Amino acid sequence: MSTIILAIESSCDETSAAIIKDGFVLSNIIATQDVHKEFGGVVPELASRAHQQNIIPVVDQALKAAKIDKTALSAIAFTRGPGLLGALIVGTSFAKALTLGLDIPLIEVNHMQAHILAHFIDEPKPVFPFLCLTVSGGHTQIVLVNDFLDMRVIGETKDDAAGEAFDKSAKLLGLEYPGGPLIDNLAAQGDESKYIFAKSNMPGYDFSFSGLKTSVLYFLKKMLKEDPEFINKHINDLAAGIQKAIIDMLTEKLIMAAKKHQISHIAIAGGVSANQGLRKEITRLAVLNNWHIYFPALEYCTDNAAMIAIAAHFKFKKNDFVGLDIAPLARMPLI
Ligand code: KG4
Ligand code: ZN
Repeated sequence: MSTIILAIESSCDETSAAIIKDGFVLSNIIATQDVHKEFGGVVPELASRAHQQNIIPVVDQALKAAKIDKTALSAIAFTRGPGLLGALIVGTSFAKALTLGLDIPLIEVNHMQAHILAHFIDEPKPVFPFLCLTVSGGHTQIVLVNDFLDMRVIGETKDDAAGEAFDKSAKLLGLEYPGGPLIDNLAAQGDESKYIFAKSNMPGYDFSFSGLKTSVLYFLKKMLKEDPEFINKHINDLAAGIQKAIIDMLTEKLIMAAKKHQISHIAIAGGVSANQGLRKEITRLAVLNNWHIYFPALEYCTDNAAMIAIAAHFKFKKNDFVGLDIAPLARMPLI
């Protein structure tokens, strides 16, 4: 008999629902909340309200696109954490109510684990063990992945996440939220060696990105005093310099971790893994270091429910279900 799972993602500012049948994604509907743009970042209260409005239409659309009736579902999966608590509560409560109504099992999914498992939606699939650089708006981690559900964080950021570093620097350049993709596009036309920003030096495989934002802030203040049009005139080169600093900090630690753990299979995941500059640099490093590299399809980089669905697919196989007393977690360790 086929296993058909409905997965729901509501950890931040994307309301998403996906249907997966025996490991094949049939639909993946994502409603992005534009309401946060004018505030320069995600406003938690507004995110919860938007999830509340979007969730039923998004789930309906996912079922329709997959041509699946809800009575055919084998289980419901939801993002338990980490994320914004109010946002998580919407998806969690909806998933619980639906499993209660349909009398089917409930599966909890860790959002960060799901970002990594997104690699198992399409070919080529990574070979175990591999290292995954997970870079999103909330997290930056180097993860040693031994099996589908056996993962260990070996390095992480001690302050801002890589996505936050992109977004906060973009804000200083006057760009709207989320600034990561905008910096990516501007940087593609800029000279990365024109403006060099300070990089942190953390021990081991850990990261720190908060210094970059300060370095950009002070530099811009100084230059704007001399020329109020400085940003507008040099935006491409500024974006390229900021992007290079972030990519260098990420890849430096990734190279160290790959050498130390003698791992040549390297993956990237999370919203920042969509970055063209990062993909180009990892591709260059793969040649130098003999790496086999894995990039997720762009639609599976930023938040989506298909990644929750594939994680749930592996959990369903292990009968890894949870009871209706389960509560979401704003902070949730990887394992
Ligand atoms: O994984 P994600 O969708 O949400 C979280 O779990 O946080 O990641 C969102 C982050 C944002 O900071 C956004 O600016 C960044 O990913 N991002 C990018 C790109 N696309 C998304 N950063 C740099 N370049 C991109 N192309
Ligand atoms: Zn995410």
